[in-house]
Amino acid sequence: MSADVVDLPRGPRRARMLWRMFREERSNPEPFYRALAAIAVADLDTHHGPLAGQTLVDLGCGPGYYTDAFRGRGATVVPVDNSTDELELGGAPPEGYVLADAGDLPLDDASVDGVFCSNMFEHTPSAAPIVAEIERVLRPGGWAYISWTNWYSPWGGHLMAPYHYLGPRLGPRLYERRHGKPEKHAYGETLWACHIGPTLRLVASRPGLEISRAEPRYWPWARAVMKVPGLRELVAWNCVIRVRKV
Ligand SMILES: C[S@@+](CC[C@H](N)C(=O)[O-])C[C@H]1O[C@@H](n2cnc3c(N)ncnc32)[C@H](O)[C@@H]1O
Repeated sequence: MSADVVDLPRGPRRARMLWRMFREERSNPEPFYRALAAIAVADLDTHHGPLAGQTLVDLGCGPGYYTDAFRGRGATVVPVDNSTDELELGGAPPEGYVLADAGDLPLDDASVDGVFCSNMFEHTPSAAPIVAEIERVLRPGGWAYISWTNWYSPWGGHLMAPYHYLGPRLGPRLYERRHGKPEKHAYGETLWACHIGPTLRLVASRPGLEISRAEPRYWPWARAVMKVPGLRELVAWNCVIRVRKV
């Protein structure tokens, strides 16, 4: 099933629809991710478009829902992931995929117009080499969209939520004692605590990158919360950092 953003309701009805899809995500992931992809790509077309003709990297592309949506807008996309299992989650991997670590990309300096990186930072032990690579491969004036589920989000612990509120040491330990390891995303194997404050500081520390905006992905109208340390870690749910290459 594919979704175009014009088919999707807006405002609170959209939020309700996404919530319903999110609750069914484990048994039926495709509608949820296709809808998110349609929304994100339409938004990026507005902010950085037209996307048609741009060369983009879909970093941590997984089965390629976002790659498909970008290609639907006429962009040339390099889908990158470091796991064949994830690339093949939806069947055939995305066409033209590159099996590589996001922190060591086989791409030339200043070779792409945009980098899209959705829900990957929490699945890597360190964001620093990835941010450095984003800076390196973007052309001057290029854009990046970095989004991830921050650790103190209600979904920060993924399947072990809400145990993660006990912290990245105690939370996973107690969860595992009680329930065993989650079948996906065990802490320290494919899930790590990635916070908003340190990640904003990391991106801001790169001389070639400029943060144009940070916002909660699903309620961007509440972006004022991003200025409040502590509170933003709890209520953003999923943090978006929009970046420009200087
Ligand atoms: C939760 S999935 C997100 C997929 C897709 N971007 C989305 O938002 O639906 C995280 C993806 O990041 C990939 N990943 C994690 N660490 C990576 C790394 N260091 N380099 C490349 N891909 C990585 C995983 O294999 C997985 O496919």
